[in-house]
Amino acid sequence: MAEQLIISTTANKAERYKSLIPQIQALVENETDVVANLSNIAAALRQTFNFFWVGFYLVRNNAMPAGRQELVLGPFQGPIACTRIAFGKGVCGASWKEKKTILVPDVEKFPGHIACSSDSKSEIVLPAFKNNEVALVLDVDSDKLNDFDQTDELYLKQIMTIIEKFL
Ligand code: SME
Repeated sequence: MAEQLIISTTANKAERYKSLIPQIQALVENETDVVANLSNIAAALRQTFNFFWVGFYLVRNNAMPAGRQELVLGPFQGPIACTRIAFGKGVCGASWKEKKTILVPDVEKFPGHIACSSDSKSEIVLPAFKNNEVALVLDVDSDKLNDFDQTDELYLKQIMTIIEKFL
């Protein structure tokens, strides 16, 4: 495992992602533990981009009522956050329900957005799949409006593909 992340402070966003992705691959390739790998990925994303909040919500079976599933907070970096999100609720729950990436330039304009922090202004949420079902979502939040675009979507999707290999 690499001991230190190499981040170019002069590189643009696409270049930073391109340098980060093989480093993430190297971080996880000899480790099978999901929590350990997701923790390092959240940390690597935060270190590289200084995102306001970056982390995972995992699809979990609920004990009461039995059989119902919810998103439960997983490894993350940033301020404390909501621990449970219902199917279809908020941006994370919508990404789970619709099985797709959701890019929100202004969270105030997303019906049902869950404000874990009032400082969060824009976000992107991407699902990762196991056996064709969503197993978790990656949520990245910014304290600036319109902070995510197709570049983030493109490269974060590549990170989700890496994640799907160890789920
Ligand atoms: N805003 C998310 C909830 C998670 S937090 O922002 C960390 C949502 O609407 O699903």
